[in-house]
Amino acid sequence: MRIGVLTSGGDAPGMNATIRAVVRAALANKDQIFGIYDGYKGLVEGKIQEFTRKDVSEILNKGGTILGTARLPEFEYESVRKLAIKQLQKNDIEALICIGGDGTYTGALRLHEMGIKTIGIPCTIDNDIASSEYTIGFSTALNTACDAIDRLRDTSSSHQRCSIIEVMGRECGDLALYSGICCGAEYIITNETGLDKDRLLKDLKDNRLAGRRHAIVVISENLADVYQLAKEVEDYSGYECRATILGYVQRGGAPTPEDRLLAARLGKYSIDLLHEGITGVAVGVVKNELQYTPIEEALAMNNSSNEELHKLVQKIS
Ligand code: F6P
Repeated sequence: MRIGVLTSGGDAPGMNATIRAVVRAALANKDQIFGIYDGYKGLVEGKIQEFTRKDVSEILNKGGTILGTARLPEFEYESVRKLAIKQLQKNDIEALICIGGDGTYTGALRLHEMGIKTIGIPCTIDNDIASSEYTIGFSTALNTACDAIDRLRDTSSSHQRCSIIEVMGRECGDLALYSGICCGAEYIITNETGLDKDRLLKDLKDNRLAGRRHAIVVISENLADVYQLAKEVEDYSGYECRATILGYVQRGGAPTPEDRLLAARLGKYSIDLLHEGITGVAVGVVKNELQYTPIEEALAMNNSSNEELHKLVQKIS
């Protein structure tokens, strides 16, 4: 087969490991494999190059994506997708492996509806693709967030402060939930919990009066202006308070072994599925088993974070 591979949307650690796995599995299968640069945007512009083993050597442990990535909102227009399909036809590429998150999946689904064989591989720090228990990149971002929160705990405790830490996750609370549990945060605020400001302020004041030296609050992005919230905590609770936005640092770095392993498994699995004639699907792991789901279903699945973990937080924080 002649197969294209692209990365799209926000980059994530493990994208390179995934590209490598796809390329190596395809070549082992005697397929021809083409790297498409800068996501769907590069596809439309015809930035396509045939890859050999050598093109993906020394990238397994590297953050970012050697293919580059982009967001292309215009891909929702059929006329733009037709340009992409023209490029695929020009290069005789019959199938496309799309590595990324939900935006990437939507693009892959639309192309599939227009007759292109596509497979989606979940690769985003947000862990917001419900058809897979884990997305490639989540483990690394979680490690990065935990490392940062542990450091913030040191200084918060020394200064008897409250620390509000904003982590990424767009509409999915997993990064906040998992890092909050792993770092013993007093409060974890996600889309699912919502922000009950009055209660937070009162609880922090009670904590302070009870003599606790510090408090850690982990909050998902887009739920509050954390600098403003820190001011309100300081005015009300008796704690000095500082806010830290971890931001894009969570997107970089060498992937963890978990992410590399997932990348290897899902990369090879995608090539296997193409050869079985199974396309228009998203690959993933469920209970540590490889599994595929029609992309349309994968996009419609509820991606709110783990209920059992939310209950756990209520008992141990
Ligand atoms: O999807 C990954 C992610 O990092 C989200 O957590 C975040 O909301 C978004 O991308 C930021 O997007 P951009 O790179 O376009 O600023």
